[in-house]
Amino acid sequence: MKVALIGFMGCGKSSVGRRVAEEAGWEFLDLDEEIEKTTGRKIREIFETDGEGEFRKIERKVLKDVLNRKDNLVISLGGGTPTWGDNINLLKKRALLIYLYAPFDVLWERIKDDTSRPLTSLGENKVRNLFEVRKSFYEEADFVVDTSDKSVEGVVKEVLAVLENFISSKRNNNEGE
Ligand code: S3P
Repeated sequence: MKVALIGFMGCGKSSVGRRVAEEAGWEFLDLDEEIEKTTGRKIREIFETDGEGEFRKIERKVLKDVLNRKDNLVISLGGGTPTWGDNINLLKKRALLIYLYAPFDVLWERIKDDTSRPLTSLGENKVRNLFEVRKSFYEEADFVVDTSDKSVEGVVKEVLAVLENFISSKRNNNEGE
């Protein structure tokens, strides 16, 4: 089984995913890092030189490759990954999706000065708009974890609990068959 963490920029997908994988004894993979590794380029540079459309094509290709890797894998996606093309359908078929929710104002405080995230240069209003548009995609997740007022470790605990419950309910269902 693969678990994919989804949610807007700044919700903690990478730091939470890394710790969840450590605790579960699973592999961890960050999609943005994987894109940078395979292309040898920074995300920001891809956006600036080739535009967002090209970035999304690369992202889709790397996503497909990652979803074909070995199971027992926690994947942290980019904020836009599940909202592009039919990535959400691919993801729903191939991974358990957990949405890390936080309110926009909290997220904006965390990301507004981060120049490695090219979309922050759009400014608060446009990014807030993006958050609103993306909501319905994120809400397709199997589970939502509300990260408001929680530390990274608090969110990690909650994600692990979701995972354990899911695995044990699956086991019980299989035994009943
Ligand atoms: C993006 C989010 C980024 C990265 C790229 C585009 C987005 O990932 O994939 O800058 O569209 O929201 P994080 O969510 O890890 O910042």
